[in-house]
Amino acid sequence: MVCLELCRLSKTYPGSSAQNGRRPVEALHNIDLRVREGEFLAILGPSGCGKTTLLQIVAGLEQPTAGEVRFRGRRVTTWGRERTLIFQEYTLFPWLTARGNVEFGLRLQGLPAEQRRRQALETLHWLGLDEFAEAYPHQLSGGMQQRVALARALAVDPEVLLMDEPFAAVDAITRSRLQQELRRIQQLQRRTVLLVTHSVREALLLADRIVVLTARPGRLCLELPLPQPLAPEAMLGLEERIHSSLL
Ligand SMILES: Nc1ncnc2c1ncn2[C@@H]1O[C@H](COP(=O)(O)OP(=O)(O)OP(=O)(O)O)[C@@H](O)[C@H]1O
Ligand SMILES: [Mg+2]
Repeated sequence: MVCLELCRLSKTYPGSSAQNGRRPVEALHNIDLRVREGEFLAILGPSGCGKTTLLQIVAGLEQPTAGEVRFRGRRVTTWGRERTLIFQEYTLFPWLTARGNVEFGLRLQGLPAEQRRRQALETLHWLGLDEFAEAYPHQLSGGMQQRVALARALAVDPEVLLMDEPFAAVDAITRSRLQQELRRIQQLQRRTVLLVTHSVREALLLADRIVVLTARPGRLCLELPLPQPLAPEAMLGLEERIHSSLL
């Protein structure tokens, strides 16, 4: 079943007069894409080609200039908690503990305190953070902070998880752990995931399908379904194919 449909989606940002009549920027051009329920889709493309813009439109935080996004057949016009975005620059509230940060989104949903607490602790547990539930962000390592940000997004039980380079800032070992955790949770709970990444390898390890966008304005230039798990001998050929489409 189709979960998300991006139909002839284009986005042009207006030029700002404050910047001496800067020209409008066409970020995305005529993107047509369908994402199945429970699919893990990775989006690759050169810097500035509109990947963040695309996620923001799907999240309902930006409006397209042309075309539309449909979530289960209904046009997306605004933010909705069934589509949660983890930002490229993730931020935790420094004055809240890890648990407090995770509970924040649940409070917005109006859940009673006891249920919030239970749900937050359970999500922190999945991500191996039991011991750090009461720690503040400055007491956590970068990788732990990233896991708290992931827990905060997962705790609200979104149907679609929109992730904008979520692991860019962590070291290779933490990154690999987080990737495994994400894939495990995604499969266990059958979430639909759109993951923007600059890492071809990450996309190959995690995704059911990879799409590659051209340089700005972003257009679809490659769509590659992947059998998961991917045989190691298939990896190299696919990696080369994707790299050459990114040139
Ligand atoms: N709010 C905005 N106002 C005006 N222009 C914008 C805005 N947001 C993005 N842009 C422009 O749109 C283009 C696409 O930006 P976007 O952030 O979507 O790219 P990206 O693919 O996520 O890049 P990166 O890989 O570097 O994160 C860029 O040229 C950027 O300058
Ligand atoms: Mg971006």
